[in-house]
Formats: sequence, structure tokens, C-alpha cells
Amino acid sequence: MADFSIVARKGSIAPEAELDQSSPIRILPGEKMSKSVRWDETRASEIIGAHASLDGAALPVLHALREEFGFIPDDAIPLVASALNLSRAEVHGVLTFYHDFRRAPPGRHILKLCRAEACQAMNAPILSRDLLAKLGIDWGETTPDGALTVEGAYCLGLCMCSPSGLYDGEPIGRLDAAKLEALIQEARRS
Ligand code: FES
Repeated sequence: MADFSIVARKGSIAPEAELDQSSPIRILPGEKMSKSVRWDETRASEIIGAHASLDGAALPVLHALREEFGFIPDDAIPLVASALNLSRAEVHGVLTFYHDFRRAPPGRHILKLCRAEACQAMNAPILSRDLLAKLGIDWGETTPDGALTVEGAYCLGLCMCSPSGLYDGEPIGRLDAAKLEALIQEARRS
């Protein structure tokens, strides 16, 4: 990936002291973005079955499906409901309550922009607004060429270098218009 003067790339650039240790959300070294693969009902049923006996299985099942496919389509709802003896409305409620459960396949790259307070105070709302307008998409949507999905996040533990984001899981600090433009170009190239 091109060098965007990233302040907080995991395990390489950011000194630990630069990260906000007070945040309850940690960026784990080596954490990877899940890849989006084609929805496969047989594979989904296997995953659901492997987690169905857990206490409060709905969340582990949905997390496992997201991990495998990168998104959770509506087709998953009846499968999960049937396996866990829940109503479809209950599964739908869980699925839509949590922002992390993407409902459609993401683009080739995923940019998460922090929308929480510290980043808000450092111009994040204007940067986000301008980026989305430039791309012609809204939060959670993907550019028509499939290059980039832009999602919101709520404190990434990078408050000390806000405004912050994640590009394909890599923390990026001190975002500005130039860095975002570089990310767009990078996403379109690869
Ligand atoms: S508010 Fe903490 S990283 Fe944005």
C-alpha cells in the first residue's frame, strides 16, 4: 500500500504511547479485515450449526458469518432463525442493531472513518461530508466501480491522532483531505 504518512499503522509506525489508552476499543496487532466472498448457503449452514449450541448464539453466529463472507445478506435471516429457534424478526433486530453487520458485499477496500467526539472536534464531520460528496455515496455504501466502501466507526482508540480511520484494517491518523484523496486513488488502482 502506498505511504499516506499514516501515523498509526499497526505494529510499524505508531508508538504505543500515541494511541488513546483510555478507549475501550483496541486495535489488535495482526487484526485483519474479513474478506468478502460469495454467499454460500451450504457453508453458512455449516457455520450456523457449529455455533448454534452456544449460549446466546445469535451474536456468535452472526459474527462468524460476517467473518466468513464479509457481509450478512437477508438470505441468512431464515437460516439463523430456524437453527436458533428464533423468529425472523428477532434475528433481523439483532442484525440491524449493530453497525458492524454489513448487509451487502463491500467494495475491494473498506475505509472506516471515526465519527466519535474527539474526531468530531478535529474536523472529521467536514472531511467525511466532503469525501462522501466527492464519491457520490452515503455512509455504508460502495462506490459504483466497487473500489471503496466507506463506513462510520465510533472511536477507534486513536483519539490522540484524530481525525482517525481504518483503511482495510490499517489505522490512519491525522486525516486530511490530501490523505483521503490518496486513499481514493489507491483504492481505485488496486
Ligand atoms: S474519537 Fe477516538 S478515534 Fe475518533
